[in-house]
Amino acid sequence: MSEAYKKAAAKAAMSELRSGMRVGLGTGSTARHFVDLVGAAVAEGLDLLCVPTSEATAAQARDLGIALATLEECPELDLTVDGADEIGPGLALIKGGGGALLREKIVAAASARMVVIADASKRVPMLGGYPLPIEVNHFGLGATHRRIERVMLDTGARGGLRRRTTGAGLPFVTDGGHAILDASFGRIPEPEALSAALLEIPGVVQHGLFLGLCSIAYVAGADGLEVVDAA
Ligand code: A5P
Repeated sequence: MSEAYKKAAAKAAMSELRSGMRVGLGTGSTARHFVDLVGAAVAEGLDLLCVPTSEATAAQARDLGIALATLEECPELDLTVDGADEIGPGLALIKGGGGALLREKIVAAASARMVVIADASKRVPMLGGYPLPIEVNHFGLGATHRRIERVMLDTGARGGLRRRTTGAGLPFVTDGGHAILDASFGRIPEPEALSAALLEIPGVVQHGLFLGLCSIAYVAGADGLEVVDAA
């Protein structure tokens, strides 16, 4: 059922597109539906130039004949459409369940608007139930792990910190060549303070808290489509 809701949210976000736009393409199962719809619209004549947020999305878009550019070639985008792992109050997000959080955040920050598409299970009254993905440099991984654990202790985290592995049990490596540590906070009452504390750790490349980036969310569920804005 959630697949149908993801698809409905992706379809609703198609209303944001106009010919001539430069569009960031997100990553994950919901964004995948959106990229499929974009491919169909492009085949019918919609003129877009798109920047993918991962190698996986780039491959999908290429197969669909969507014109792609890098962020170097096209550093300012009109719009990015992406999924989320959690959507909290004020459209604060947790992202990175698919491991693409660094490129997703760079692309979202280069966009005039970030549009999130999701099924209703992603809406939460407070962020933190979903483990926060933290992208870290391999150099000094043990030291970085300890520093993050200290932040978790200071903020009253309810769970632990685990290095992400692939389905085959191998260490997960991001498109940028980094590791991911998943931090189970349980609840994140002060996302801005946590963001600042994590970014102070030298080995942390980026984290999956997206604060002040999302403009609007299309959320589909049993009650239909809800359009949520940041206010
Ligand atoms: C990818 O790194 C993530 O940020 C995804 O956007 C997020 O995990 C949502 O994925 P789904 O649409 O697959 O739930």
